[in-house]
Amino acid sequence: MNAPLKPNSFRSGPDENGRFGIYGGRFVAETLMPNILELERAYREARNDPAYVAEMASHRTHYIGRPSPLYFAERLTEHFGGAKIYLKREELNHTGSHKVNNVLGQILLARRMGKKRIIAETGAGQHGVATATLCARFGLECIVYMGAVDVARQAPNVFRMKMLGATVVPVQSGAKTLKDAMNEALRDWVTNVETTFYCIGTVAGPHPYPAMVRDFQSVIGEETRQQMQEAEGRLPDSLIACVGGGSNAIGLFHPFLDDPSVEIYGVEAAGHGLDKLHAASISGGKPGVLHGNRTYLLMDEDGQIQEGHSISAGLDYPGIGPEHSWLNDIGRVTYLSATDDEALEAFQLMSKVEGIIPALECAHAMAKVAELAPTKPKDHLMVVNLSGRGDKDVPQVAEMLGTKL
Ligand SMILES: Cc1ncc(COP(=O)(O)O)c(C=O)c1O
Repeated sequence: MNAPLKPNSFRSGPDENGRFGIYGGRFVAETLMPNILELERAYREARNDPAYVAEMASHRTHYIGRPSPLYFAERLTEHFGGAKIYLKREELNHTGSHKVNNVLGQILLARRMGKKRIIAETGAGQHGVATATLCARFGLECIVYMGAVDVARQAPNVFRMKMLGATVVPVQSGAKTLKDAMNEALRDWVTNVETTFYCIGTVAGPHPYPAMVRDFQSVIGEETRQQMQEAEGRLPDSLIACVGGGSNAIGLFHPFLDDPSVEIYGVEAAGHGLDKLHAASISGGKPGVLHGNRTYLLMDEDGQIQEGHSISAGLDYPGIGPEHSWLNDIGRVTYLSATDDEALEAFQLMSKVEGIIPALECAHAMAKVAELAPTKPKDHLMVVNLSGRGDKDVPQVAEMLGTKL
């Protein structure tokens, strides 16, 4: 697990200050520093402790249902007539998305640290549901901050969290979406430092979160390497994943960063278009500081954070994990974007051609597969991360397609 990496590896970041090049770092209130340092220490110890590693492996198998399959999408492949398309089936995990991989790691860490009160932020509700689930499983108090607008548009997930015993706190500040929920969670953490563990849902926030969440999600790419070897006897030629904060994407990408033959694509949400309302922090933003780290952000001329827009509530975060910002600048990963309309089309195509209803988030990745796959030769192996299932999106999609349920 902790084999030393080559000094010039793309995988050796962040540095001791939590930076990936000029990105990342730790921009937090002084009162939080002791907690952040305690967390960093606890994580370093835990990842080197065979008991922690074994406990996580056991829950991955028996509770989450890992390994998730790497599935050859024969009909999609035929449909596009180019690359051989494989789907990494993260939507089959318990709770329906990749979010649970990270929450499991953090909750086991919280238990080791003796923290009994867990707080989290959520946008679409998938991270909130995963956190509420693991808190129920381990008998921990769970408080989920959620923008009031998201509370209204993700009602089924709010109800799920309550069923699981969590308290959902609607956040009324700002635009009442994910950014505001994260502000509120950070405020809670500063106030309740002694008792509380903050379970962040993506590769954002102050160091060590971006690296820690990446490590927990890297199980996606590690399994993919092994499964592709078994299926085809070699590495894939390309990887594609959607990018909100960037956790499912970095989880798939990270184990392949040092394999130059593997092309890597992240897909951001272009909303109504990059010249209109969107949530593409890299393609349409610039570097700044938010939520404890420096990264690409959506900002106006005065440096004020702008609200992101996407058809998908899981992609409308106005920032992106700092490691992605670095991977973009050094050119190792290519960041594309897909509009709401393109994602909606891919959502329907995937459902009809493969019998799998994808989350609107990963429908963005599928939209770019539709563009890239036909341009590749038939022996090109392409892996798409299917980060979640679309059950949660069915009412929204029905409405957009003019169907009354
Ligand atoms: C299914 C699914 N995919 C992707 C995302 C985006 O998050 P990330 O970029 O951290 O993977 C979300 C966020 O809620 C999600 O629910």
